[in-house]
Amino acid sequence: MVSHTIVLGVGGGIAAYKAASLLRLFTEAGHSVTVVPTEAATRFVGVATWEALSGHSVTNSVFDMVEKVNHVQLGQQADLIVVAPATADLLAKAANGRADDLLTTTLLMARGPVLFSPAMHTEMWRHPATQDNIARLRAHGAHVLDPAVGRLTGKDSGPGRLPEAEDIFAASMALLDGTVAPGIEPGSLDGRQVVITAGGTREPLDPVRFLGNRSSGKQGVALAAAALAAGARVTLIAAHLEVPTPAGAAVVGVETALELREATLAAAADADVVIMAAAVADFRPATSAATKIKKRDDVADPVITLVRNPDILAELGATRATRQAGQLIVGFAAETGDDGGSVLDYARAKLERKGADLLVVNEVGGGKVFGQDSNQVTILARGSTEQAQAAGSKDQVAAAVVALVASRLAAAHG
Ligand code: CTP
Repeated sequence: MVSHTIVLGVGGGIAAYKAASLLRLFTEAGHSVTVVPTEAATRFVGVATWEALSGHSVTNSVFDMVEKVNHVQLGQQADLIVVAPATADLLAKAANGRADDLLTTTLLMARGPVLFSPAMHTEMWRHPATQDNIARLRAHGAHVLDPAVGRLTGKDSGPGRLPEAEDIFAASMALLDGTVAPGIEPGSLDGRQVVITAGGTREPLDPVRFLGNRSSGKQGVALAAAALAAGARVTLIAAHLEVPTPAGAAVVGVETALELREATLAAAADADVVIMAAAVADFRPATSAATKIKKRDDVADPVITLVRNPDILAELGATRATRQAGQLIVGFAAETGDDGGSVLDYARAKLERKGADLLVVNEVGGGKVFGQDSNQVTILARGSTEQAQAAGSKDQVAAAVVALVASRLAAAHG
């Protein structure tokens, strides 16, 4: 595996402690990491922690290690600079080219990609000043992840959480050319167009309510990062996600199954691979009220009538002849076994019924899979009794799926 030189900038927010997990992911993947915390960050996590975990001296002063011209050298030598958490103040400084400590000078000296992962309170995140700074950083070529949505420092919640270390790691790896999760061969999907659906659809009942599901979108986003790392151009059709999208993917946001169908069929027209990782609602309310449904004592309580949504995977399978020959269609199945058949019996029947080429089968039940970081799957291939297993994190599952897709495309195209 290629070892890279990474600078991990840490801003002064409570999420600074999560950067320690990110640091571990980088070092365990064989990369050399120098941590540069801001002065405020060291009030949350001490220098000793960063030094022990990284194996490198840590400072934020431009007057330390002057003989090495540290404030110039760190940025010049870094293959990647990741700032996590990036506070509102740090984003403001970086957007304006301030250079009053080691981290900000290093950011000005960057030669490689720079990734900011902001974390702050929702109000600060939404403030036009912060949004202007982010737009400016992006215009300068930096990558900025969206914060995750969820519980913040206090009792409040909303967008502003630092994404999970695994997600920042995946986004970082996608930026480092040729550096990929184990099992992915760089270049194995070069020139390929891959469409991936991710997340859970939301079917409106009225302007404020919807029927949804527990999908976090983690598996679909991990697949997108893995496909990008393998060299593909990726279109991510994103229903509701709880994780940030990977830098480098063309993202099409959708809400409902019908919107997801339209976006997927359009993107599939010239795709080599379509991966249906989204949790698509099988049913939607027959009607969606134009105004909020009110409780009223003089009227009976509402009854929701559901109608069937189209099965997009089955439609892709049935209409494959209208698109480019050799397009690979990959489905996901969440199954439980019962007296009528095992998980794999049901999955094989689903693979044939939906006309997919590959089916990634999760065994569900007992709180398994939805929203969790780990996953265990069996991958079935149509017209073959062969099956592959992948165990471990959603990144590892994604790597296994991408490897299988790449080898099937290579076999088909010679
Ligand atoms: N899928 C789809 N359109 C739908 C429902 C599901 O394209 N309306 C896709 C999912 O993205 C997934 C696959 O079909 O790739 C399997 O989903 P699953 O919910 O397991 O299939 P169902 O046919 O809904 O399963 P069940 O047998 O439980 O009805």
